[in-house]
Amino acid sequence: ATTRHYKFDIKLKNVTRVCNTTAILTANGKFPGPRIVVREGDRLVVKVVNHSPKNVSIHWHGIRQLQSGWYDGPSYITQCPIQTGQTYVYNFTIVGQRGTLFWHAHISWLRATLYGPIIILPKRGVPYPFPKPYKQVPILFGEWFNADPEAIINQSLQTGGGPNVSVAYTINGLPGPLYNCSGDKDTYKLKVKPGKTYLLRLINAALNDEIFISIANHTVTVVEADASYIKPFETDKFLITPGQTMNVLLKTKPYYPNATFFIAARPYATGTGTFDNSTVAAILEYESPTNSTLLSIMQLPPLKPTLPSLNDTPFAFNFSRRFRSLASVQYPTNVPQTVDKRFFFTVGLGTSPCPKNQTCQGPNGTKFSASMNNISFALPTTALLQSYFFGKSNGVYTTNFPSKPIIPFDYTGTPPNNTMVINGTKVVVLPFNTNVEVVLQDTSILGNESHPLHLHGYNFFVLASGFGNFDPNSDPANFNTVDPVERNTIGVPSGGWVAIRFRADNPGAWLMHCHFDVHLSWGLRMAWIVLDGNLPSQKLPPPPADLPKC
Ligand code: C2O
Repeated sequence: ATTRHYKFDIKLKNVTRVCNTTAILTANGKFPGPRIVVREGDRLVVKVVNHSPKNVSIHWHGIRQLQSGWYDGPSYITQCPIQTGQTYVYNFTIVGQRGTLFWHAHISWLRATLYGPIIILPKRGVPYPFPKPYKQVPILFGEWFNADPEAIINQSLQTGGGPNVSVAYTINGLPGPLYNCSGDKDTYKLKVKPGKTYLLRLINAALNDEIFISIANHTVTVVEADASYIKPFETDKFLITPGQTMNVLLKTKPYYPNATFFIAARPYATGTGTFDNSTVAAILEYESPTNSTLLSIMQLPPLKPTLPSLNDTPFAFNFSRRFRSLASVQYPTNVPQTVDKRFFFTVGLGTSPCPKNQTCQGPNGTKFSASMNNISFALPTTALLQSYFFGKSNGVYTTNFPSKPIIPFDYTGTPPNNTMVINGTKVVVLPFNTNVEVVLQDTSILGNESHPLHLHGYNFFVLASGFGNFDPNSDPANFNTVDPVERNTIGVPSGGWVAIRFRADNPGAWLMHCHFDVHLSWGLRMAWIVLDGNLPSQKLPPPPADLPKC
């Protein structure tokens, strides 16, 4: 194992897409941001220098951060933001993970432009459990806003209305040829040779949209999810929620001189609000033949794939259930077979009282809000982890996050009258090594909606999912404890539930939240504080000297 050093200079840069120039936050002037390549077992050291006028912090999404919780990155949870002119050096080891993850800003909506891939190669000499790819290509999905994302979030927070939506989706930062004012140079092209296997490292870095993807005339084999190997399966259409990553093998056809195919993507949208329903495309292009007599059959317009319809919940549900962990001798599935603590969390939207002297856009003049168990999580003004570590929780957080919803109701019936949520910074405290089971239930308060739930500091096992109300008497009989997929982000089905398990073996303060930034900022988040164990190797070390102060 080695130590890999990177430096991110955070600065504003003018970038033009779809005929609109915006000063966006970048690392080293790149959009999407720099690619990080490491091997399993390596130490990664990233020096982040903030030259921008905004406060930032960087989250290494999906990295376990074992005993290194000070470097996880969410602002006001594990650290205070890095202010203008300040530096923070993230420094952690990548243990027991290999595959694709990503890094992104974790404050306000700044991850709209500040994100990039993390590629974790297997340890030297350890092969992939699938055919060795000829080439590896990161493919990042994102959203383009014709405005400063902070202005958009403020607009949606203050009056509690739906936010302005993006004007385009992007693939590797480019909107592609299907948008007005977006041409050849705004199109990502993947040039391939015939008869080879390409490993596409897919990342959904979009702020607020789950995305359907398809490549015209090609099927792929899905081999990894959220940096865990899975039992391979083939598909010609796929879904990726914000926060998820997925490795797929694309085997190119034996012979297709100069043929081009669209890699197209558009949202899976279950909500009731407005959304960006546009389609982004990149181009898969076979190399030109060396035999010039074949040049005559070239250059038809790219073939378009068919994508699931915008609200195809059955596809989304079934697709997500196809993932199974490898559960092999080399890559065992360590799903907890017993449970110490059970939780039932409702996830969904709600409303809160409108601030005085303002007009709010929620139902009956209320403010839109989002919650878990009717608690809309308020970010503290100092970092949760520091408060916990130095025993100064007073006035920062309370430990009474409820284990079930405060307001019981039937999630599949008529929407309840009382959708008001309570604001607070409430956490659950877990003793070291607690085996935790959580059932996440979509509340469907303002209509059914899917929520990509992400857990920091852990992977969890996805035991089962279903539509309607979770039934504690009958549903557990169908829990998969043999080869459940291990992930860090799972879509709670629209109008349904999902059951997950994890072992709390990593001390620290860990956020769990909806990876739609609009829901996250409306409060759809909570935090776990996992206590130290007795052994030195089970304790969180003290914070680094350069940890930013609030
Ligand atoms: Cu990718 Cu808390 O986030």
